[in-house]
Amino acid sequence: MSKAAPLGPVPFGPVSYDATGALCLSSTPLAPLAAQFGSPLYVYSGAHISAQIERLQSAFAALNPLICYAVKANMNTHVIRHVASHGVGADVVSVGELRRALAAGVSPEKIVFAGVAKQPAELEAGLETGILQFNVESWSELEALNAAAARMGTIAPVALRVNPDVDAQTLAKITTGSRGNKFGLPFDDIPSLVQQMQTLPHVRLEALAMHIGSQLFKMQPFSDAYKRLADLTRHLSSVGTTLQRLDIGGGLGIPYAPEDGDGPDPVDLAAAATEHLAPLGLPTIVEPGRFIVGNAGVMIADVVYTKESYDHHFLLLNAGMNDLMRPALYEAYHHILPLQHSSAAPIPQELAGPICESTDVFAKQRPLPPLEEGAQVAFLTAGAYCAVLANHYNGRALPAEVLLSATGEAKLIRPAVSDADMIALEQAQA
Ligand code: LLP
Repeated sequence: MSKAAPLGPVPFGPVSYDATGALCLSSTPLAPLAAQFGSPLYVYSGAHISAQIERLQSAFAALNPLICYAVKANMNTHVIRHVASHGVGADVVSVGELRRALAAGVSPEKIVFAGVAKQPAELEAGLETGILQFNVESWSELEALNAAAARMGTIAPVALRVNPDVDAQTLAKITTGSRGNKFGLPFDDIPSLVQQMQTLPHVRLEALAMHIGSQLFKMQPFSDAYKRLADLTRHLSSVGTTLQRLDIGGGLGIPYAPEDGDGPDPVDLAAAATEHLAPLGLPTIVEPGRFIVGNAGVMIADVVYTKESYDHHFLLLNAGMNDLMRPALYEAYHHILPLQHSSAAPIPQELAGPICESTDVFAKQRPLPPLEEGAQVAFLTAGAYCAVLANHYNGRALPAEVLLSATGEAKLIRPAVSDADMIALEQAQA
């Protein structure tokens, strides 16, 4: 069994214990935030978000891509605004995300609209906004986009999303670029689709796009996919189709567990992209989500009850799978630390939520110092794909969100959306 965590930096991310044993995010103690804003609570570090964007910008300096933040990772408009303040654009997948990006001040010419089943009204909203490109994933969608653009008397800029059929070597539930996935267009179909597109006067092919999966640690799948994209681009050019740009998607992994170390280095991703794509001389777009916001966020929860049952020592929390769904949905690992450091020897504990589902378990046999009722814990790496997946199951609130500025000032960026708010919405329909 491992020893208690030492005071000082924990293995990854902007989280550390201060000299008094208080867990801090970018040097701001977390317990007072829970006291002020309630629990469960999401807290994000603006400083870490900025640092991650700067890492990407410097790693990719040779390609100088347009970074379009994948809004799906964390769609709070204050988070998007913070990201956009670094000159970053947005990758959106619904009219809701499009509105969020615009509300956060992202300029339309830095917005790409992805998503496998965009509806006509969504296509029209994108056209009206004047976004950079629609990443199109089927012939039917091309026809719908052509019709929408015709109705509006305009021409839609299109990137065809290619499914390069590579094995992303990540969690099966989050791969997107292999045959059998619903995403993208078959690689070999692209040349004939490009020909067929010429029968649609209101769409204009400007780019190819791809995205092979999320939370990738190995660079080989990216490299294989970039090579395929480069080959296809050269082939299209040889038959007279010149592209304006390439969109190479997101997917760079980040550490979730101490053994992940620092996670993959964006320098290695940029090297693979530069090797295959720089010779083409085309502007590029990258669509990172998790890398930018993942480790910037934590979720705080309280231990409501402890309970012994058969051989198991349970910590029953005030947060459940409705607040942070990744463990229930993907069996994903989130590192969990007490808000107050303890040097007591860790014992295996089972952390579960209040939801009436057996999958509402965050961690099994997790070595943590013994925690009393009323103690608080933080789930690390909770900035991406956590608050966005929260829901009201079992009549529960959506947790509040707080953003820390570079100077550590805490701003409530969304209050909890309570059961009372939901009841009022329903009763208003009576
Ligand atoms: N571009 C496209 C077209 C995508 O589908 C995604 C993620 C991204 C970019 C951003 O990928 P990232 O850089 O964040 O890996 N909920 C899952 C992850 C789903 C990812 C969906 N697509 C999770 O919690 O692991």
